Formats: sequence, structure tokens, C-alpha cells
Amino acid sequence: MTKRHLITTALPYANGPIHIGHLAGVYVPADIYCRYLRAKGEEVLMVGGSDEHGVPITIKARNENTTPQAIVDRYHEIIKKSFEEFGISFDVYSRTTRPIHHKTASDFFTKLYNDGKLIEKSSEQYYDEEVGEFLADRYITGTCPHCNYEKAYGDQCEACGTSLNATDLIAPKSALSGNTPVMKETHHWYLPLDQYENWLKKWILEGHKEDWKTNVYGQCKSWIEQGLQPRAVTRDLNWGVNVPLADAEGKVLYVWFDAPIGYISATKEWCEQNGQNYEKWWKDEETRMLHFIGKDNIVFHCIIFPVMLKAEGSFIVPENVPANEFLNLENDKISTSRNWAVWLHEYLEDFKDKQDVLRYTLTTIAPETKDSDFTWADFQAKNNNELLAIFGNFVNRTVVLIHKYYEGIVPAAGEYTAEEKELIGKIAEFPHTIGASIEKYRFREALAEFMNLARLGNKYLTDTEPWKVVKTDPERVKTILHLSLQICACLSVLGEPFLPFTSEKLQKILNIDVHAWDEGGKIDLLKAGHKINAAEYLFEKIEDGVIEGQVGKLKLS
Ligand code: 2FM
Ligand code: ZN
Repeated sequence: MTKRHLITTALPYANGPIHIGHLAGVYVPADIYCRYLRAKGEEVLMVGGSDEHGVPITIKARNENTTPQAIVDRYHEIIKKSFEEFGISFDVYSRTTRPIHHKTASDFFTKLYNDGKLIEKSSEQYYDEEVGEFLADRYITGTCPHCNYEKAYGDQCEACGTSLNATDLIAPKSALSGNTPVMKETHHWYLPLDQYENWLKKWILEGHKEDWKTNVYGQCKSWIEQGLQPRAVTRDLNWGVNVPLADAEGKVLYVWFDAPIGYISATKEWCEQNGQNYEKWWKDEETRMLHFIGKDNIVFHCIIFPVMLKAEGSFIVPENVPANEFLNLENDKISTSRNWAVWLHEYLEDFKDKQDVLRYTLTTIAPETKDSDFTWADFQAKNNNELLAIFGNFVNRTVVLIHKYYEGIVPAAGEYTAEEKELIGKIAEFPHTIGASIEKYRFREALAEFMNLARLGNKYLTDTEPWKVVKTDPERVKTILHLSLQICACLSVLGEPFLPFTSEKLQKILNIDVHAWDEGGKIDLLKAGHKINAAEYLFEKIEDGVIEGQVGKLKLS
């Protein structure tokens, strides 16, 4: 890899806190990817922010009898803090209510309008006569014509992920009053997706059959083959980016038009603060753009946003969209309304400083090819039987013995045995194997490989038994512990994308500061004579009672 990398992450709606499903599906994989690229010395920009417009926000404000602004102010802070606490290493985390975003989105619309890329149409749309409002998107619910889910929204069915028009819904109902809506005439601007069908076929169906994930490619194929329709990019609402035209009183840009432009605005914001021109990131073919998202966002990132970028004419389109499926919780769909979720801010109240245990568990079950399930029992097992028993145990035994026998000073290695030479050869492969999996967006596989390195170290120490050999051959023990400690150092480098807090702690113990990825396969990160710091546990046992408490808490809610 030599290009620069622009990594975008879905902007979460600032209408509630975030939960483990968000982390597993989007932010942990994106973070692993970005941390890995940085360790490889690549130029990376990781972009995120809060999605602060649209009906999800106004509905929440209405329910809580407050203003949309108060809602987004509250949740933006909570979400941002959760990301920081979990080590999601955004270069910029912005908000779509910022002036820079309003201007960017507004200018983007104006350019499309001036270039004749939008169609203006009058049509009849659902209207709630009692409340006196048009019913955009989530203001209308009904039965999904594709899967029969009864609570589908006017713009999307969350059960099957299909993107809808309100008029597709069977038995529509106003979310504001519960009434059956009437039809009323209004006018809007449309993006003629149908005019880009050939381009999309060539770009995605022919161009990305091999490198896009099958779940992503499959959804795009079915969309394109069903035939695309012009899609409204404006709404009759009073919360959002105003439509920058004279005859557009009371109209704003559709949230799914403005939100992805948020990636551009956030990049501009970062560039302004860092003395760069954003065009380098968005208008130069040397940039690889990737969108990390969940499966419900595929159509917006693979079809609608790319068509917007193509229609505008001067932007690049994504190289890949490594979307994930959904994470369930204890065999049930995560649900905000039923409070069936593990909220990140609550997790940290109960598991202080255990961010990496959650990052680890979620990566081992990442819904990369199909929906997956988080259970508290699995979380406990992953901590106790893997992180603690393998990785933590190996590091702890090594560090304790170095202190016990050599007062914390790294001993020099003697001659390595044939088995040790073979082991050293294997260790050298790890940066490559783990990296190859990350580059294919196979984060579960990458993490499993990383744990194989910890397993090798743990097994080596157990097999060589330095605590016994010390009685008969103390010189040999120097070699064993020298090599074991080098493996600990490799783990601290290669573990950083997955377990950044643990890596930092381990490097403090080892008294080193090494971050370059390829160093993680070398066995000379610690020189003989180097002094390490006192042993500290990397992981602690999680008892049954703690897990029972979490399961009970979930069931109470
Ligand atoms: O599905 C969601 O939560 C949306 N807020 C994602 C937006 S992604 C991007 F386009 F901003
Ligand atoms: Zn559906």
C-alpha cells in the first residue's frame, strides 16, 4: 500500500447513546484498520462525526418535549466520550450541525442544481391533517412490502434493510398522531439514480465483483437489477440544512443527502486545522476512500452517495465499502426501544479500564459475513480462557521471572536451539499474516492469528520450564527468558490495533516505545542489559457473579 487512505465511519444519529452493536459493526473494525495502517507508516485520515439532522432527531425531541438542538447537544457529547474512552482513534469527530457542514452540503446541492443534475417534481405525499405536517421518513410507519415487518419506516425497513419510499408502505400510519395520513401535493428535488444505472453496473457489478464483500456486492446487485428510480433529496421539515433555493421555504435537504457530505465537511474541518487542502483527500485518485458501515447503510454508501459524487463530477468514489452484518445480544435483536442493549457508557461504569476485553470479544464475534451474537458468558470465557489464560499468563510469567532471576535486567541470549530458530522464523511471519487478514477486512481472522502468537509464546515457556532448568543450567534460562521477553515485545506491537490499552500497558512494563508494524516480527526489540519495569496484570479474572449481574441487569430493563 502506498496511496493515502481516507477512512470514513458511519455518522451515528445523535438521538441516543451508542451500544456494542455500533462498536462491533463499524468502529472497532475501522479503528483496527486505521491503527494498522498508521503502524505501517501510511498516511491515514479517520473521519467520523454525529449525524444531527433528520427525523430520528426531531422525533426524539418531540417525545422528550424539547428541541432538536438540545437533543443533539446532549448525545453528541455522550457519543464522542464513549468513542474516546474505547480508543477509537478518529483524526476528526465532527457534527453535521456545524456551519462548515451546512455550507458544504448547501454548496454541493447548489452545484448539482446549477449543473442541471437534479429533477424538480411535484407529487402527492403523505400529510398528517391533525398536526399539519408532511410525513417524511420516520414520521410514517407501515408494513414493509418486502418482508411484512409491521414497523417499517417511510424511508427504510430496519428488519430487512430495504430502502423504501413512503408510498411503498402497506397500511401507513402517522408516527405523530397515529392517524391514517392523507395525500397532499408538494414539490421536491430528485436525484435521477436511473440515469446512473450503466455507470453503476460498470463500476460495481463489473469492477468490484472480486474485491467487495459478497454481502455488499449482493445487495448492490439486487438494487441495480431491480431498476433504480429518481430519489427525493429534499424534505418538508424544519430541522436540517435549508434548501438553498428561492422557492424552498420550509424545505431542508434529506438527511441521507447531507449526512455523507458530513464526511467531506469533517475532512475540511481537519484540513483547516492542519494546514491542508481537503481536495487532496477527496479529489485525487491517489486517495483510497473506504466507508465502514453497517448493512442497513449499504445502499446509501454504495449507490446514492457515489451517484451524488459522480454527478458533482470532481470527487473520487469509494474503493471499498466493507459493511458488516448485525450483532445480536443474548440471541435477540439489539433494540433501543426495548432497552435490549449494552450501552458503552454503562459498560465502563461496571468494567472500568476493561475496554480491551470488550474490543477483543467483539472482534472475535464481528458480524463480518453473517449476523452474530454477543453473550455475557462468551465475554467471560474470552477474558478468562483467552486473554488472561494465554496472553496475560505468558507475559506475567515472563516478566516475573526476569525480575526474580535478573532484577528486571534483560539477560543476553546464548546459542539458540534448532527448535528456537524455527520459532524465531515463525514469529517473523506474524506481521505479514496478521496484516494480510486486516487488509482483506478479516478482523476476526487477524485477531485469531495474533492470539496464535501469544499461544506460541505461552507454549514455549511452558515447554522449556525455565523455573526447573534454573536449578541445573542457569545459562540456558537466560536464553529462554530473553526470547520469551522478545515475544512479549512483539505482542505489544502487533496487538496495538486490536488492544491499544493493553499494548500501551505492556510497553510501559517492558519500558519500550515501538510502534512500527514490521518491528513486531523481530526478536531484537529489547537489548541485553535493558531494564524493564515491575510486573502488572494485563487482565483480571471475571467471576461468575459479575456476569450473572450483567445478565440480570439486561433482563430487568
Ligand atoms: O444509520 C445511521 O445511524 C445513520 N446516521 C448513518 C449515517 S452514515 C453517513 F452517511 F453519514
Ligand atoms: Zn422489510
